[in-house]
Amino acid sequence: NTATLGLYGLGTMGSALALNILDNGFALHVSNRSADAVRDFVSEAKGEDLAADLHGADSLEAMVDAMATPRAIIMMVPSGKPVDATIDTLIPLLSEGDTIIDAGNSDFRDTIARTKDVEAKGLTYIGMGVSGGEEGARRGPSIMVGGTPAAWDAVRPVIEAIAAKFGDEPCADHLGPDGAGHFVKTVHNGIEYADMELIAETYGLMRHGRGQSPAEVGAVFEGWNTGKLDSYLVEITAAVLQATDSETGKPAVDVILDAAGQKGTGRWTAIEAIRMGQSANVIEAAVAARAWSAEGEERDIGAELFGGERGAIDLPDADLEAALLAGRIVSYAQGFRILAAASTEFDWSIDYARTAEVWRAGCIIRSALLDDIATAFRADLPKGELIFAPTFVTLLRDGLPSLRRVVAAASSAGHPIPALASALAFLDTMRVARGTTDLIQAQRDFFGRHGFVRLDGRRDQHGPWWE
Ligand code: 6PG
Repeated sequence: NTATLGLYGLGTMGSALALNILDNGFALHVSNRSADAVRDFVSEAKGEDLAADLHGADSLEAMVDAMATPRAIIMMVPSGKPVDATIDTLIPLLSEGDTIIDAGNSDFRDTIARTKDVEAKGLTYIGMGVSGGEEGARRGPSIMVGGTPAAWDAVRPVIEAIAAKFGDEPCADHLGPDGAGHFVKTVHNGIEYADMELIAETYGLMRHGRGQSPAEVGAVFEGWNTGKLDSYLVEITAAVLQATDSETGKPAVDVILDAAGQKGTGRWTAIEAIRMGQSANVIEAAVAARAWSAEGEERDIGAELFGGERGAIDLPDADLEAALLAGRIVSYAQGFRILAAASTEFDWSIDYARTAEVWRAGCIIRSALLDDIATAFRADLPKGELIFAPTFVTLLRDGLPSLRRVVAAASSAGHPIPALASALAFLDTMRVARGTTDLIQAQRDFFGRHGFVRLDGRRDQHGPWWE
């Protein structure tokens, strides 16, 4: 018995997803907090010749009332309170067998709690990460589903139909129970933040260190997009940097305030990493860079006090390209490390190869690397670490000297490169078999009698300072 589909929340993403559903031949009921948006949407759908199976309703109540059971209702509302408010309105209106689907960027912890509450009432709940921005939602996003296998089976045909395709394969899958889908989306966004920051830092070195114009840098990125860095984010960077502001005639990027917004998902990835005793330091650096960027007045004072100059950098494109690629590999690898830690902690059994495959098309972090990442996870991976997969060992061995040259040159000339430097710090830490935390253990024992493990494996040993 196929469920009747409804979608509530006709903002940019909701409208695009609704048109995508209709375009794939499914009947759809829609509604929105303000009825005006419903009318606008219905005329938009008519304009696209997609209104045949569309039913607009002025309220959520009216929409549910008009739907035959069982019903599956997709919520596309801002994360947080609006999701709870929509669920509260829906629960008394729905009956057993109905499904509520949250397709927004919800915190996975909220999704776990909501799944419990909603399913205790005999309904089904799905937390679904959707990536790809407006264009993705309209033409085919990447979709990361969390819920029970039965819930997935019921919605699978429509989700697979509207998802992006890699070849013939839909970039959508059931990745685990309750919060797993939203957690995978959160980590996707953490990687998105890191990749964007790595790209921006590389742009900064060319712009302010090599004195190139945005358009010139854009052309370099365009070239890189045909190589190993082939990806959506590099592609749009090339387009952005070559665009001109119609008002001033200046490069578009030059009229934009350098204060980056963030709605939370990248930050959540960093928070969860640290909470689990891990670190995704490239993602953390990207979150930090956005936070610091918002402190424009402080940076003005800093420029006065410490001198804002950035020196020249004499590095070839090839070094910058290889450094960016190494940084990107580390940011993906760190994302998967966090997924693995959470999968263990929450008992999700996330399939990392499938996750990489779901990200191969439709989503913001889609890139040529993801196919190699999926292949790497299908093979025997030492310690499950992506950086130890043969393909990535080769790429990192080749890229490490470039990354080192780039970080050294940037640091010497005073260019802030928190993400690139973090990637190098991670790789250098992982390639030094014996580091310096022996001293930290000694210090801990000295002041707190915490004990340490000797090299021969004997535990709970104490240093001579306690003799
Ligand atoms: C996507 C994007 C999308 C959005 C995020 C991040 O996958 O389509 O990640 O979900 O860009 O909300 O937004 P912020 O940069 O505002 O945190």
